[in-house]
Amino acid sequence: MRKMFLTAGVIALLGGALPLAAQQAADAVQPEVATSRAEVEGVSPALAAALSAKGLGQPVEAQNWMVAAANPLAVEAGADVLRQGGSAADAMVAVQAVLGLVEPQSSGLGGGAFLVWYDAETGELTTLDGRETAPLAARPTLFQDEAGEPLKFFDAVVGGRSVGTPGTPALMEAAHRRWGRLDWAPLFDRAIALAEDGFTVSPRLAEQIAADADRLGRYRDTANYFLPGGTPLAAGDVKKNRPYARTLAALAEGGAAEFYTGAIGKTIARVVQEAEGNPGVLAEIDMALYEVRERPAVCVPYRAYEVCGMGPPSSGALTVGQILGLVSGHDMAALGPDSPEAWRLIGDASRLAFADRGRYMADSDFVPVPVKGLVDAAYLEERAKLLDTDAALGDVAPGNPGFDHAWADDDSIEFPSTSHISIVDSAGNALSMTTTIENGFGSRLMVRGFLLNNELTDFSFRTHADGVPIANRVEPGKRPRSSMAPTIVMQGGKPVLVIGSPGGSRIIGYVAQAVIAWADWGMNVQQAVSMGHGLNRFGTFDLEEGTDAAKLQEPLEAMGFEVSVQGLNSGLHGIAIGETLQGGADPRREGIALGE
Ligand code: DON
Repeated sequence: MRKMFLTAGVIALLGGALPLAAQQAADAVQPEVATSRAEVEGVSPALAAALSAKGLGQPVEAQNWMVAAANPLAVEAGADVLRQGGSAADAMVAVQAVLGLVEPQSSGLGGGAFLVWYDAETGELTTLDGRETAPLAARPTLFQDEAGEPLKFFDAVVGGRSVGTPGTPALMEAAHRRWGRLDWAPLFDRAIALAEDGFTVSPRLAEQIAADADRLGRYRDTANYFLPGGTPLAAGDVKKNRPYARTLAALAEGGAAEFYTGAIGKTIARVVQEAEGNPGVLAEIDMALYEVRERPAVCVPYRAYEVCGMGPPSSGALTVGQILGLVSGHDMAALGPDSPEAWRLIGDASRLAFADRGRYMADSDFVPVPVKGLVDAAYLEERAKLLDTDAALGDVAPGNPGFDHAWADDDSIEFPSTSHISIVDSAGNALSMTTTIENGFGSRLMVRGFLLNNELTDFSFRTHADGVPIANRVEPGKRPRSSMAPTIVMQGGKPVLVIGSPGGSRIIGYVAQAVIAWADWGMNVQQAVSMGHGLNRFGTFDLEEGTDAAKLQEPLEAMGFEVSVQGLNSGLHGIAIGETLQGGADPRREGIALGE
């Protein structure tokens, strides 16, 4: 057995009440991470090496395949599949099934996801949209009170009203049908065993349960699971989830149809409609009609690359693409990561992009979205002229990407949870998937061992502003606008970087920054995900506290920015594909990259 140094958080994840031999900051720039180390025995060499690399800020190296995600147990499940010759799609199914158990607050069967796929055989890139949909009985006023005023956010979230038809089980099956190499059912074995035998509650999950105990206590099944006997689950507790094991077994045996048209779907509709105090309208018909949509990837050139990702209903690739396009006329490499001027450009490019996002981006199956116009090179070049100054921009308005349609600006709100999975398999296929139940613990409704999403609160609560309609208003069957930005960066028709993050609308800034750090600043993928964040969505320049980014406060204020130094909780997971595979996992979360 090898002796390895592990963080306290990871020890809890792996199940041991292990002695803490020493206290040491594992990563001085990431305050959220558990920082004590301990000497332990019995950890697989690959896992130990992955953990140690992350702690040291180094990428994990591999030759054949790699998986990076938010929890070591989920990553190991994916690694097992890849080791057996499974494809990235097979591995994703195993990773997602375990994430739904060990990180239930972030993603799972009751949620939705977007997936970007590079196919090594055909050289093609495509995307699958497994976004939740508004029920057919949903009306544009879903999130308004009787006076037509928007509900308070958590009044809308907690209960049945916010629950959209889940897309993740259908997405898992669609990806496996198209790109799977191994049988479907065994992909669930690891998750089923963990659910039956128990998994160790991680520090992050425990913290989030404690912080949300009031809301988790509101519905009986949820309370019984997360607050057994009224006490929040604690880090290190071994938790079983037999209902989840049964749900997974049904999915393994009967496929997604079991979920959408069988007993599980019926229970979901009933629980949503009967949610005390805040019932919803999701019905069995919505479950039966759910469809994954394949959509073309949105690709935007940046330097020698094409940065490709998820188009509408996500705003991810368009907004990341706009930011990159707007700064592309500047020599970001020469400016470097410590330059206030580089951050002025990124910050105001981002504000300009967010202005367009708020006006124009929504589900293009329901409203016209000027996808081409928004990332058109001439449009971005013209708009980038606004950045030809040396001070912060004043008011920022949307541009006109050649679009003759009056929309008002959107006011939807987003809060933390969500997870990102990056996988490259031994055949060279690449998968980038961001997966969510929206808010931490979603709607707080639990059904058969998993939580239901609150994704519908990603719609605008208002339908109009000053009489002008809002593109992202609620409509029956529509998908709420997302910020999720699962990304694959291409060069010469081949993938070179797979990346994405949770973080609500901050996802866009996290991903754009990571691409700039990697492409312009010469950082490896671990450095690119670890570096302190700076982002500006709506006017305030957020800088990550406890990192080098916070040093930008004074110079940015001198340029006229309003600055807020705060925790910025990304969950970037990336894989760079070159001579070798290099994986990076966000030190702000519990995940790792693992490969062989
Ligand atoms: O789809 C979206 O953009 C959001 N529902 C994602 C939520 C999220 O990333 C929360 N993250 N920390």
